[in-house]
Amino acid sequence: MIAFVLAAALSVPVHASDAAALYQTRCSSCHGLSMQGGPQAPPLTNADAADVDFMLQTGRMPAERPWEEEVRKPPSFAHKQISELVAYIMSKSSGDQSLPVIHTGGDLGSGRIVYAENCAQCHSATGKGNNIGYRSVAPSMMDSTPLEIAEAVRTGPDVMPKFGPRVIDQKHLDDLLAYVRWLKMGKYNAGGFSLSNWGPISEGFIAWVVGIALLVFLARRLGTTP
Ligand code: HEC
Ligand code: HEC
Repeated sequence: MIAFVLAAALSVPVHASDAAALYQTRCSSCHGLSMQGGPQAPPLTNADAADVDFMLQTGRMPAERPWEEEVRKPPSFAHKQISELVAYIMSKSSGDQSLPVIHTGGDLGSGRIVYAENCAQCHSATGKGNNIGYRSVAPSMMDSTPLEIAEAVRTGPDVMPKFGPRVIDQKHLDDLLAYVRWLKMGKYNAGGFSLSNWGPISEGFIAWVVGIALLVFLARRLGTTP
């Protein structure tokens, strides 16, 4: 027994007790005391590190209510607490332990193609997001860090597909990150009336409002023509 406790103490990172306490107070009510899951939330015993880190970095977890629509929020924890919590959960999970590797200096031209082929149909050409039907929204990635983007690509949150290294290999991932960085600098412009690159949701809305105004104007003119 003593040997077991000692072995456990030695194999766990220094701050594991803080992370364990954090897990118990902020996560266990839904994910269960031993991460087994339950009616409120899925188990975490086979979660991948990239998924856990993504959920915490983007503030999606801890959720406020079970099965609510997940949206990006400011993270609930400091950076150090997040890495400790990830390490703690991964010490009990059989999932993939590694976070995605990312490099700077990817190729923009190649990244544009990777983005157009795999991401634009949901997140729009500008990266500012789009309504994709079935009450799902592919959110803007303008606030996402390169690591969060790589994590989303590898884990596929919600209805987003999971892109493994056979679909998007390491080089193409780095190229994609370079292209999204370029999009974030507001460089994309498809030409025409760009509306300061507000993205298709507002552009669609404005087109609609302007269209209605035009129709009303025409109708009134028709009505008053002798
Ligand atoms: C109010 C309930 C609730 C709390 C509290 C909560 N979660 Fe969750 N969590 C959920 C639900 C529900 C899902 C499933 C969401 C989905 O798949 O749409 C989920 C999903 C996850 C996932 C993804 C699992 C998978 O299989 O895709 C991770 C990782 C996660 N939670 C981590 C955490 C961590 C870490 C905490 C504590 C900091 C936490 N959660 C707190 C309800 C909760
Ligand atoms: C089928 C539609 C679809 C495709 C294709 C898709 N995504 Fe997503 N993406 C989504 C949805 C839906 C979410 C929101 C998931 C959630 O909140 O749980 C999302 C979330 C994200 C996020 C998280 C943003 C945030 O709010 O924190 C990033 C980053 C992202 N996607 C990047 C990408 C990249 C890069 C590609 C291409 C390799 C891609 N996505 C392809 C639908 C898609």
